[in-house]
Amino acid sequence: MKAIGVSIIGCGSAVPEQVMTNDDLSLLVETSDEWIRTRTGISKRHLASTDLSLSELSAQAGTQAIAMAQLTPGDIDLIILATSTADDLFGSAAKVQAILQANRAVAFDLTAACSGFVFALITASQFLRTGVYKNVLVIGADILSRWVDWSDRTTCVLFGDGAGAVVCQGITEEDNLLGFAMYSDGKQHDALNLGYHGTDKGLKEGIKVNQGTYQPITMKGRDVYRFAVEKVPEVIEKALFNAQLTTDDIDWLILHQANQRIIDSVAKRLKIPGEKVIANLDEYGNTSAASIPLALDEAVRQGKIKPGDIVASSGFGAGLTWGAAVFRWGS
Ligand code: ACO
Repeated sequence: MKAIGVSIIGCGSAVPEQVMTNDDLSLLVETSDEWIRTRTGISKRHLASTDLSLSELSAQAGTQAIAMAQLTPGDIDLIILATSTADDLFGSAAKVQAILQANRAVAFDLTAACSGFVFALITASQFLRTGVYKNVLVIGADILSRWVDWSDRTTCVLFGDGAGAVVCQGITEEDNLLGFAMYSDGKQHDALNLGYHGTDKGLKEGIKVNQGTYQPITMKGRDVYRFAVEKVPEVIEKALFNAQLTTDDIDWLILHQANQRIIDSVAKRLKIPGEKVIANLDEYGNTSAASIPLALDEAVRQGKIKPGDIVASSGFGAGLTWGAAVFRWGS
């Protein structure tokens, strides 16, 4: 049997209409447009309205990706929804499947914070390479505005909401997922958390359970910054090595959109010129699992990224987790 490769043949994205500028934020917490822009590169962020669900936002991005791939929802075999902010703790992927009417697809959530999209793309490729499935919809989506402490200026200025999606297809002619690498370091799990907190509740003599909810995001910003600028260049080089490519072969670099200074530092370390670096966090902030497919989709629709271009992408975040995928865009 011929080896089966992976092609990424469609993309899509969706962002909420509500826009919160840095100046708007300076009315909520003690901050300024100047501080936020110079420290992060962010000018505004889109925030989900109270009636917008993560499932709906994800489905909007998925619909566009399926259309670009010239498929119908009925062609999709598997949906992987990378998110940390599902509408339902049991998962939202199946709800997305229902909204899309992707009736043949099996659907599940994957949680790896801001690395979620890259991890989901790599997971999808395993199902495609084994020939089990032919068409996989990978969605990265997050509504972190639900979980941000809007009185904490060290975190609330960073995040925005959004969704992005790609359709991956199994093909026998070539393999366009050229190389990847993924890592986790749970010893640093407390650098970035959206943790569960509860209180004990006695049910009967000798039996207690713990009940509560998730607490807003906490982050050791400087530690995460240092981790990102060290590990992201390494993981991209590892993925390039696995692809038997060098940084000179890269047409476009798309990093998780956390901080413009992280993006600039990684590009500099890899000696990738600024004109090859895709960035849109100015408009959207850090949209977590959505940031890479959102940036990819914008660049493809602007005609920047063209079929055949080689894209190096890297996600990093809570866990800690980090990963990179190098792929040739388009069929
Ligand atoms: N406005 C004004 N002042 C602020 C703000 C703000 N919004 N936030 C912090 N400050 C102050 C601090 O209190 C501090 O004041 P002090 O010197 O009087 O103590 C000063 O600014 C400097 O604070 P630092 O935390 O040292 O600022 P830094 O330059 O490190 O920037 C930032 C902070 C932007 C968070 C940076 O550390 C960063 O980007 N870290 C990485 C975050 C990241 O990449 N997350 C990705 C993963 S997200 C995920 O996985 C869900």
